[in-house]
Amino acid sequence: MGKAIRLDKYLVEMDKGSRSQIKEAAKKGRIQVNGQIVKQTDIKIEPDTDKVLFDGAEVAYRAFEYYMLNKPQGVVSATEDNLHKTVIDLLGEGCRRDLFPVGRLDIDTEGLLLLTNDGDLSHQLLAPKKHVDKQYFALVEGLLPEDSIKQMAQGMTLKDGVTVKPGQLEILSRNQLGKSGQPVSKVLLTIQEGKFHQVKRMFEVLGCKVIYLKRLSMGSLQLDERLQPGEYRPLSEAEITSLKQQGRGTEKADGEKAE
Ligand code: URA
Repeated sequence: MGKAIRLDKYLVEMDKGSRSQIKEAAKKGRIQVNGQIVKQTDIKIEPDTDKVLFDGAEVAYRAFEYYMLNKPQGVVSATEDNLHKTVIDLLGEGCRRDLFPVGRLDIDTEGLLLLTNDGDLSHQLLAPKKHVDKQYFALVEGLLPEDSIKQMAQGMTLKDGVTVKPGQLEILSRNQLGKSGQPVSKVLLTIQEGKFHQVKRMFEVLGCKVIYLKRLSMGSLQLDERLQPGEYRPLSEAEITSLKQQGRGTEKADGEKAE
C-alpha cells in the first residue's frame, strides 16, 4: 500500500492547476474520488487505490518521473535562474513542478542530463562513494602529453591543490592540427566524481584546454543520440530499473548502510 497524500497535492503534482485553482474546481463539483463528488481538497487519498476524476477524466498518479535531456549549450543546470534559461524551462509549461536536474553540467557543456523528482535515486547517482561512472567526450586544445592516459589513471592534484580520483582516458585522435592552428585531440574520459569543472581542470593539469565537452553516459544510462541538443524523452522502464539496481549494487560493494 502506498502513502496517503492530500487530494490537492495529488492534483497539483499531476499538473491539474495550482492549489487554489484545484480548490475552486472542487467547489464547482469538478472533482470526484471513487465516484463521489468531493468539495474539500484537504482530504487524504491513497494514490495506489483511490480513483480520482477531474472534469470526468481519470487522473492516474505517477509518484516519480524520469527524463533524459540532451542539454544544449547556453542553458544552466538549475531549476530557476534570473539570467539564463534553465534545463527545466526546456521541458515547457506542462511539466510537473518538482523536477530537478541530477547534478550539474556547465553552461557550455552539452549532453546527458537526468531530470527527475526522485531524490533517492539522485542521491544514489551523485554520492561520491557510489562510484557511478560518468563518461564525457571532449575536444581538447594543446599538446596532449604522451603519458596522458597514465597521468589520468593515477589520479591527480588540480592546480588549486584539490585531488581527484583516477579517470580512464581513451584517445580517439591525438594532436591533429585544428582550425586555430593548435593541436587538437578527441578523447573520451570516464570519471566517478563530479567536482566543479572537473574534466576541464583535469585537462588543464595536462596543459590542455577543453574546447568542447559533452556527457555521454551516467552509470548505465547512455545519451540517446537521436535526441538533438534541447530535446528530451522519458526514460524507459528498463532504463529506470537498471539505474536503480546500479545504485543499490555499488552501495553493497562499499558496505554502506541504506539511507
Ligand atoms: N566537468 C566539467 O569540467 N564540466 C562539466 O560540465 C562536467 C564535468
